[in-house]
Amino acid sequence: MKDATARLAGAGLTLAYDKRTIAEDLDVAVPEGSFTVIVGPNACGKSTLLRALARILKPAAGTVVLDGRPIADWPAKKLARTLGLLPQSSIAPEGIMVADLVSRGRYPHQSLLRQWSREDERVVAESMAATGVGDLADRHVDELSGGQRQRVWIAMVLAQQTPLLLLDEPTTYLDIAHQIEVLDLCARLHEEGRTVVAVLHDLNHAARYATHMIAMRDGRIAAEGDPSSVVTAELVEQVFRLPCRVIDCPETGTPLVVPAARTRVAAPN
Ligand SMILES: Nc1ncnc2c1ncn2[C@@H]1O[C@H](COP(=O)(O)OP(=O)(O)O)[C@@H](O)[C@H]1O
Ligand SMILES: [Mg+2]
Repeated sequence: MKDATARLAGAGLTLAYDKRTIAEDLDVAVPEGSFTVIVGPNACGKSTLLRALARILKPAAGTVVLDGRPIADWPAKKLARTLGLLPQSSIAPEGIMVADLVSRGRYPHQSLLRQWSREDERVVAESMAATGVGDLADRHVDELSGGQRQRVWIAMVLAQQTPLLLLDEPTTYLDIAHQIEVLDLCARLHEEGRTVVAVLHDLNHAARYATHMIAMRDGRIAAEGDPSSVVTAELVEQVFRLPCRVIDCPETGTPLVVPAARTRVAAPN
């Protein structure tokens, strides 16, 4: 394994859909106990990487190692009790109620001998409260707004109670207050000891919340490390092709990206 302190790592990964190769010889490591944020332009392979790290996608080459053991060798339920994935777009079963969807997060904790318990009930209620969807418990998932639905999915992953959480764009569809609420929740889960990996589009949020950042471009890792070393004007220009300035956030001191103003077309004389 590339990094002995990594809880989850991929070495020499080739990621492909049929004949279409998305990434080649990719090495990546999620440091133990980190809040790792992955950023990068659309279609650079962020979701593909997350899927490989969660064993949804089998690498064409290379190995993903979780807690020192190839992820391919993990029994399914044990994996589901260790690593929770929120995919980028999830489709709920038709007609399902919010509380029932969140309850599905408890599935890996059940067995023939251990059926639905008060503990499951408590965890489901707690997960819904943490994401602010407690009041929606009896509503149909179909009839919620995009933001409400997103928070229900997060509640479902939380109910899984895994020490590792992989979240693909958990803040998409949310208004700014709910984005911050979800990120604060992730930060709290991280402080309580979980390892959190999230794909985010907002570089300023990424820099504010991440303890470790990974910037991708074209299936490669362009930079990784501390947010202050990753979020620089040069890197943003190189990775996103966006001219910008990076200043200190007045609130947190973390890097704040300010896109360059567009040049106005001169008024005709
Ligand atoms: N199921 C799939 N089958 C074929 N190609 C896919 C599939 N999913 C994603 N891709 C392609 O893989 C590339 C990377 O996609 P993705 O990992 O979703 O990017 P990102 O999450 O960074 O936006 C894109 O070109 C996308 O079109
Ligand atoms: Mg994606």
